[in-house]
Amino acid sequence: MTPTEPSELLELAVTLARQAGELARNTRVEAIGRVTTKSTATDVVTAADKAAERLVVEALSAIRPADTVLGEEGGESPGGSGTRWILDPIDGTVNYLYGLPHYAVSLAVEVDGVVVAGVVHNPVTGEEWTAVRGEGAFRNWEPIRCSQVTELGQTLIATGFGYAADRRAHQARVLAEVLPRVRDLRRNGAASLDLCWAADGRLDAYYEKGLSLWDHAAGALICAEAGLVVSGLRGAPAGPDMVLAAPRGVYDALHALLVDLDADAGP
Ligand code: IPD
Repeated sequence: MTPTEPSELLELAVTLARQAGELARNTRVEAIGRVTTKSTATDVVTAADKAAERLVVEALSAIRPADTVLGEEGGESPGGSGTRWILDPIDGTVNYLYGLPHYAVSLAVEVDGVVVAGVVHNPVTGEEWTAVRGEGAFRNWEPIRCSQVTELGQTLIATGFGYAADRRAHQARVLAEVLPRVRDLRRNGAASLDLCWAADGRLDAYYEKGLSLWDHAAGALICAEAGLVVSGLRGAPAGPDMVLAAPRGVYDALHALLVDLDADAGP
């Protein structure tokens, strides 16, 4: 029988994320010569995004043919088992393009609509964050916890920007009001890694409007398992309008500020 035990699903996810990451790292020089664009002229896809996704999709369809795969580059394959794999083959594609060592393979596993396991693997540093629902979060198999910050003014946050100009203009307006109220801001260029860095306290909190499920499915579980509150705004779950991940001590203040600024509205 095909296993559905979350720890076994995680084991497979880790194996595939490592293979996809190795492929991306080893083929970068050639892959960045074959670039196309998606939603806008700055939203790039390299040959490695496609090849890494193909690797994972082909492996899963051989090992678990009844599962569904939702991939950033290929859309959703049909399934029926109730298990869905959510893949960003290279999160941080612009970093990858420029040779910045901050990109990752993000792979989450959902069973009956609930994300039960996830891995975010940075193939350059070898760092790998993992979680199984209810069992804590780990970096390279060492347990991690989020920061214990309690003042918004002492909070180091990260955020990111979409690829469309009108969305960026809205995000910049929100950020102009957030920045004077926090310790500082980082824009690192890979949402999945921002979430993992918040999970292990390298950042305090993270928010972004406009993410796709593949950007945040694994990282959001890792955050929640590391003690962060993960949500959208105004009672909504984390999703395309907003992903907010903050330690309990600053969650209410950051949430209220983002609501005041209508951070989840606009284009
Ligand atoms: C992007 C990165 C970036 C975030 C964007 C995402 P991609 O993903 O995660 O940090 O700000 O919203 O689209 O395009 O590199 O897979």
